[in-house]
Amino acid sequence: MKVLIFPTASEAIASVADRVLDEVKRKASAVLGLATGGTMEAVYDRLVLRAQVDDVSFANVKSFNLDEYWGLPPDHPASYHTYMRERLFERIDIKLANTRLPRGDRTDAAAECRAYEAAIANAGGIDLQLLGIGRNGHIGFNEPTSSLASRTRVKTLTEATRQANAAFFDRPEHVPPCALTMGIGTILDARACVLLAIGSAKSAAVAKAIEGPVAATCPASALQLHGDMTMVLDREAAVGLTLIDYYQSVHPDGAQIGAGDPCAPPAASPATD
Ligand code: F6R
Repeated sequence: MKVLIFPTASEAIASVADRVLDEVKRKASAVLGLATGGTMEAVYDRLVLRAQVDDVSFANVKSFNLDEYWGLPPDHPASYHTYMRERLFERIDIKLANTRLPRGDRTDAAAECRAYEAAIANAGGIDLQLLGIGRNGHIGFNEPTSSLASRTRVKTLTEATRQANAAFFDRPEHVPPCALTMGIGTILDARACVLLAIGSAKSAAVAKAIEGPVAATCPASALQLHGDMTMVLDREAAVGLTLIDYYQSVHPDGAQIGAGDPCAPPAASPATD
């Protein structure tokens, strides 16, 4: 797991947006796994801006979102369909037909979840999965005690998660009690994952996710099992990490390993003949 700790929130956000853009530059037909929530708003703003400046097309990109509230139709103002249309899809040249979120308005949730898993597989799997983290360590809407092998399914939300998302609804009691979410197993199948956490409210969950035991009580800790996992943090989100000095020494202020890499192969020895 790569742990990048940036001095400020805006640098952490820029790093994540740029990582997504780099993926699309590398592979024009990239399959992106996308997230919603407050943390991602600034990431999408930056991504839209950078796509314009660098003239990067999303016309061949496909996307799958992590989750959607069960019971909300796509045109509901607080649905994640609406969030994604307004914050990203309508601001870049991605084809709406190539974007997909679980449908919260289907009658048969199990069939919708099976179809969602099949659609991800048909697209060739997810190249880069974007993640936020809940204060209780959830990823997607995989609340604590979610099976670490879980697939897309209906999940009951904790009261704390419903409260944390109440600001997006007219009244707190309007937050739906359940959501459709990719499972932890689904997330772990992505070829690469990047998680962004900002602010001290996330520091306890971040510490458990990175340094705690792998346990269903902190779903994000399952990411320790992923072979290409990057945690992007600002200083406040990193304060609970025991090995913070180590992470900072390897990636000073979030820098990727460059010329000073102590693990770089030794320079070729000069010819002696
Ligand atoms: C939503 C999602 C959630 C959020 C998490 C953090 O698609 O995946 O796991 O990332 O609830 O939300 P914020 O960023 O609002 O703190």
